[in-house]
Amino acid sequence: MTDFRGSHGKLEISLTVNGEPRNIRAYPMERLLDVLRLELGLTGAKEGCGEGECGSCSVLMDGVLVNSCLVPVLQAAGSSIVTIEGLASGDTLHVLQEAFLECGGAQCGICTPGMILAAVHLLNAKPKPTMDEIREGLSGNLCRCTGYTQIVEAVADAARRRSSSRSTV
Ligand code: FES
Ligand code: FES
Repeated sequence: MTDFRGSHGKLEISLTVNGEPRNIRAYPMERLLDVLRLELGLTGAKEGCGEGECGSCSVLMDGVLVNSCLVPVLQAAGSSIVTIEGLASGDTLHVLQEAFLECGGAQCGICTPGMILAAVHLLNAKPKPTMDEIREGLSGNLCRCTGYTQIVEAVADAARRRSSSRSTV
């Protein structure tokens, strides 16, 4: 629920982040990316271009992959956000995080949180994607370091592991 009676133009905004209810005070047009990083201390989502072109700020909003640099926080009111910080379970990495580590899918790491969330989104929709479907699913996320091959291999590896263990992404 959102309370519009806040002072100084800020509003009380409620949303769920990584499964936890959070209440924040923010200007309605503040970027979700800034609220996550500056208000909530979740610095996994990165700012690359700030214009919706690179995908480094990607998060899931009600299961949909969004560029958080383009989402006014008011639009996220009442929604459920998943960031990279919400994927691991205690000390156990998410299968995609393990696969990125093992396949060399992360180098400088700037693109990695967004890439992994794009991959989560892809594997939720297509549990056994082809290599072309993986490339298409990650096409909104840019990487300057890896040449993409290891990233695509990491997602394929995670899909294989998930289907053999029947775990969910
Ligand atoms: S920082 Fe959001 S898409 Fe580049
Ligand atoms: S690992 Fe550096 S931008 Fe992708």
